[in-house]
Amino acid sequence: MKSFFEYSICKRAQKNNLVEIILHDLHDYSTKKHRQVDDYPFGGGAGMVLSPEPLSKAIESLSSERKYDEIVFFTPDGVTLNQSMVNGLSNVQNLLFICGHYKGIDERIRQKYVTKEISIGDYVLSGGELAAAVTADAIVRIIPGAIGDETSALTDSFQDGLLSAPVYTRPANFNGMEVPEVLLSGHDKKISDWRFEQSMERTKLRRPDLLTNE
Ligand code: 6GU
Repeated sequence: MKSFFEYSICKRAQKNNLVEIILHDLHDYSTKKHRQVDDYPFGGGAGMVLSPEPLSKAIESLSSERKYDEIVFFTPDGVTLNQSMVNGLSNVQNLLFICGHYKGIDERIRQKYVTKEISIGDYVLSGGELAAAVTADAIVRIIPGAIGDETSALTDSFQDGLLSAPVYTRPANFNGMEVPEVLLSGHDKKISDWRFEQSMERTKLRRPDLLTNE
């Protein structure tokens, strides 16, 4: 995960002081002999559960240094992440992300500290780390200045609730396949109308749910 934040868009954003991402190792907050942070589930069953003590110690210690706007726990039973949640999270100062085992963390930690529970889709990952990285990337890339073209994050698929229109670059004729003429016209209004139509068409065809929900 270290490498992800050092090579992705997150790296550039950090270098430009747009965001600071600090990784913490839960083992550092363990009080057990072998820096153990998990234990068997009460009542039996497969898998291990993250113990409340190291999580509580970590959360209390970090919260004494910064006030967190949200304490997010990544879990398959959380609310499915979407662009509007990402936009909301990118507007706050400090976020604390908790990544659990796939079996989860002690329920009392969720009750006491967690303010938001997020899933990134209906499938199971082996831990919350990738979900947290996915979420961090989505948040960081929309911070103004994080990606090269200032306006391009605003024209993403989903940013207006629609899928994006198809895009083309040179050559205008690629092995006999032509770029739609309107894009070569230089007529801004016609181009934006065409893009909107294409967006609508694509959304109707591929993601009709986006047009009916909300
Ligand atoms: Cl946030 N965690 C895990 N373990 N699996 C997931 C997930 C999160 N979101 C989708 N699958």
